[in-house]
Amino acid sequence: MSHDRELLNQMDMLLELHNGKLSVFGGNYDFYVDQKRQIQASIESKYTDAQKEIARLNATITKAQNTRQHHESKQQKDKANKSAGSKIAVNALKGKSQETEAKRRKLIQAKLSKQLEYSAELSAELRNDTIKIPLSNIKVYDKEIVRLENVYFSYGEKSVLSDFNFTMRTGERVRLCGNNGAGKTTLLKLISGVLWPSSGNIKTSGNIAYLNQDLSLLNLDKSVVENIAEYAGILQHNAHAIAASFGFRGDASKKKVSVLSGGELLKATLAAVLGTEKQPDLLILDEPTNNLDIKSTLILEDALNQYSGAILIVSHDEAFIKGLQIDSEVIL
Ligand SMILES: Nc1ncnc2c1ncn2[C@@H]1O[C@H](COP(=O)(O)OP(=O)(O)O)[C@@H](O)[C@H]1O
Ligand SMILES: [Mg+2]
Repeated sequence: MSHDRELLNQMDMLLELHNGKLSVFGGNYDFYVDQKRQIQASIESKYTDAQKEIARLNATITKAQNTRQHHESKQQKDKANKSAGSKIAVNALKGKSQETEAKRRKLIQAKLSKQLEYSAELSAELRNDTIKIPLSNIKVYDKEIVRLENVYFSYGEKSVLSDFNFTMRTGERVRLCGNNGAGKTTLLKLISGVLWPSSGNIKTSGNIAYLNQDLSLLNLDKSVVENIAEYAGILQHNAHAIAASFGFRGDASKKKVSVLSGGELLKATLAAVLGTEKQPDLLILDEPTNNLDIKSTLILEDALNQYSGAILIVSHDEAFIKGLQIDSEVIL
């Protein structure tokens, strides 16, 4: 499938290959996203219904067990009071009702295991498509977090920024625009502290996370869990739960970052950066969707929309940008 969402929006039919299953969506890309979200919502409601049915069947089983125990203790008492002659008749009756009772129990058990299986399938489908970001502890009060005053920057003789001024506040979402070579990446690096200005002042406050288009934030030689623990400064034990909520369960969480696919690398990076309550106050993204497929782009979009900190982003992906509520654009 092509990864260019602008191009895909000009199509009138799309095919999606997911888990070896081919689905046809009659419409453009926005229609596809809309359909995907509706399908997701429908799976969620089916899952809720399945959970209710499981609870109902469990309650029926418990009730039947209680009734049976009650009957049995009653029969024990009756037995003590009966004469030897009528005992045979009682046992025959008892045998018959026990038989139908056993059949009923078997039927309910079968229904229950079918529901459990169905519910596990639905939950796998749900887990496959979403990640949940924890609520952050980012202060809601409005504060300036970035200030650039009269900034000049040049690579040797090559001047990139001259007398540049810029500010950002908490929770603000800013898109940085400009032609190739205008100096966008350079500016992001200056704000991240990777580069120093030739002259002028750069003041930042709070934690900043910088994601370049290669997503090279994690240590390639370490596992997903080790990376999350290290980046977020938490115990590996706690990092396992975060890894799981971003789709890395069991052995998957022990995979080295160097062997991850593009989509997996994105999820692992998001887990490290946004998975804990210690989220950055400012997230800087430089063309993050360039190497991502559509599914990963949607995951990133969802993750960013659950994050409440400030965002400074460079991206030419108009559909992706449309999905993030950008407050302002700065043109270089
Ligand atoms: N390390 C470098 N050394 C010299 N020139 C550079 C270096 N990095 C970038 N440049 C030049 O600086 C200008 C701005 O680059 P960059 O910030 O990458 O722009 P953008 O991200 O907007 O495409 C370009 O002309 C580029 O060629
Ligand atoms: Mg650039």
